[in-house]
Amino acid sequence: MEQSQIERTKRHYDLHANEVIPRKHALIKRSQSQTIQLKRFHNEVKRSLIESFATRADHVLDLGCGRGGDLNKWFDAKIANVVGVDLSQKEIQEAIKRLHELRSKARGGVIRNRLVDTFNARFLQSDSLGISSPILFASNRHQFDAVTCMFALHYFFGTEHSLRNLLTTVSANLKVGGYFFGVCPDGRRVNDLLKKHNGTFTGLVFSCHIKNEDLPSLQFVSMEKDSRFGMTYTFALKDTASDVTGEVEDSDGSIEFMVFEDLLIEMAAEVDLVPVLEYDRLAFGKLLSLEATKYGLFKHFIPVYDNVEELETVSKLNCAFTFVKVDPNNQSDRHTMGKRQLGYEEHEFRGEVNDTA
Ligand SMILES: C[S@@+](CC[C@H](N)C(=O)[O-])C[C@H]1O[C@@H](n2cnc3c(N)ncnc32)[C@H](O)[C@@H]1O
Repeated sequence: MEQSQIERTKRHYDLHANEVIPRKHALIKRSQSQTIQLKRFHNEVKRSLIESFATRADHVLDLGCGRGGDLNKWFDAKIANVVGVDLSQKEIQEAIKRLHELRSKARGGVIRNRLVDTFNARFLQSDSLGISSPILFASNRHQFDAVTCMFALHYFFGTEHSLRNLLTTVSANLKVGGYFFGVCPDGRRVNDLLKKHNGTFTGLVFSCHIKNEDLPSLQFVSMEKDSRFGMTYTFALKDTASDVTGEVEDSDGSIEFMVFEDLLIEMAAEVDLVPVLEYDRLAFGKLLSLEATKYGLFKHFIPVYDNVEELETVSKLNCAFTFVKVDPNNQSDRHTMGKRQLGYEEHEFRGEVNDTA
């Protein structure tokens, strides 16, 4: 990942944190927001993932934790220790503030929530994710039971190095048998949307633009591995972290990179991370599409919102992903598993993907 990209993303999220308004006002604003349904749905997906793959975990690492929007989910899932890491110092400060609020609420409630005495969260600012590899976040030599990356993986698809460094860090911190999971936009769907709209989409609630120099890649003329890193677009969704206004160079929104499922599977296999293909239908049947797909890793969001069709379009760009870490010594077939998923001759996306709403 280039330093300039790191600096740009950091500025973006520092500015976002500056827009923080008092909690009471934030809740009123939120309830009036056009995107409230979408936020609820996305939170429900994250909650279900945390409950399915990290409930009662001793140690969880969250990469790109932002302002601690998942604090309540971790607490409710009875996770004992969470380490949250983010690039933005300002988002980290906000997360720490929210942690204090959660603690005093849990202590001061009518029925004191005893979990508060055992719940422990630490938030760290780091410029090194995707740059250094690996970074160990465990304090006293334990490994993590789960590592999460919620709506942040796309920042690491700038270069092959950046993704490899991130995945090496994930694996170095994760126990064998532990899960690496999260949510992210599916690059193929972003690409389809942009292709359909000639590289630029401006709607009522969100906008998405390909960065000028990348227009030819919309055709996927060259699908070599290298050329699918750094496919840049700007994205802004009303009333969310991506929608930062003000005098910033990237006032079009957040600058992001397309995430490709097959590349992710292939590079994760190098560090002993293998896709989880089956999800619990009871927990996810109303949230994610669980149909068998080409690679099987990405489970796309299937939201139903009232009135605003565009909200469904933007929501359906996203998917959940989960890997399990296998033992490099005992699982001699781990690479085969990854390769079987990929089907080597299928590296090119030849056809259109028509399932983007
Ligand atoms: C869309 S926010 C998601 C925040 C949170 N995970 C959530 O789901 O609400 C993306 C976050 O990724 C962080 N991020 C982007 N690039 C990063 C990097 N290289 N290292 C650490 N954090 C990064 C941003 O600062 C931002 O807080």
